[in-house]
Amino acid sequence: MSRRLRLGVNIDHVVTIRNARGGGHPEPLRAARLAAEAGADGIVAHLREDRRHIGDDDIARLINEIDLPLNLEMAATDEMLEIALRHRPPAVCLVPEKRQELTTEGGLDVVAGARDLARFVTALRDGGARVCFFVDPDFRQLDAVKALDAPAVELHTGTYCDAPPGEKREAELARIVAAAAHADALGIEVLAGHGLSFDTVGPIAAIPSVVELNIGHFLIGEAIFCGLDSSIRRMRALMDKARAEALGERSA
Ligand code: PXP
Repeated sequence: MSRRLRLGVNIDHVVTIRNARGGGHPEPLRAARLAAEAGADGIVAHLREDRRHIGDDDIARLINEIDLPLNLEMAATDEMLEIALRHRPPAVCLVPEKRQELTTEGGLDVVAGARDLARFVTALRDGGARVCFFVDPDFRQLDAVKALDAPAVELHTGTYCDAPPGEKREAELARIVAAAAHADALGIEVLAGHGLSFDTVGPIAAIPSVVELNIGHFLIGEAIFCGLDSSIRRMRALMDKARAEALGERSA
């Protein structure tokens, strides 16, 4: 059972609102500072090819002006690699990206892309980043990540979150639990995220080998009703409760 579960707050959708008017408000840096005060352990942001979320300037400011580490999500392209090596974020998560998608759909196919992905792992690691692959909870993907010698994976929780409560969601949860155990046995650090909400976070937070959850859309959406501080604090509390209960059950 790992120590305190880390929470990475994804601020992309603060920027979605800012970009809707093309001005400076709401400011992602202000959201990042608030997230730090509310108990976040890191800031997550996705630099997309179409720049619909953060832009290049935002990366520099998030790295230089915020005390929390930045986890930069990006596609495995030469353009993004050059930007990452210029800014040197402490963590990079490689994600699949399609221009027309509403959000990241599914994990990266590391099995199919292994040959090309190897150079991204080497270059980003040499640039000082913890390299992580965003993958579906699939053993073959985890074995491919291990073969590339990447230190971390983020398990895609979107299918679990989208499934209706009941049998289907339980089946998706079981896949994530098994994948987390497999990654842990391979010596890969296990993160998880996508689509998590107050209703779905508990069972994921309770998985012993998961060390970090990355959550954005729900937190920013909920902030409309209760404020960002409150939404992050409540998420943090639910994560901590689920982890403490899992610890208690196991040590009983
Ligand atoms: N992790 C990864 C790799 C993602 O691409 C995203 C979405 O940008 C998230 C976590 C956060 O997902 P959500 O915004 O649904 O909480």
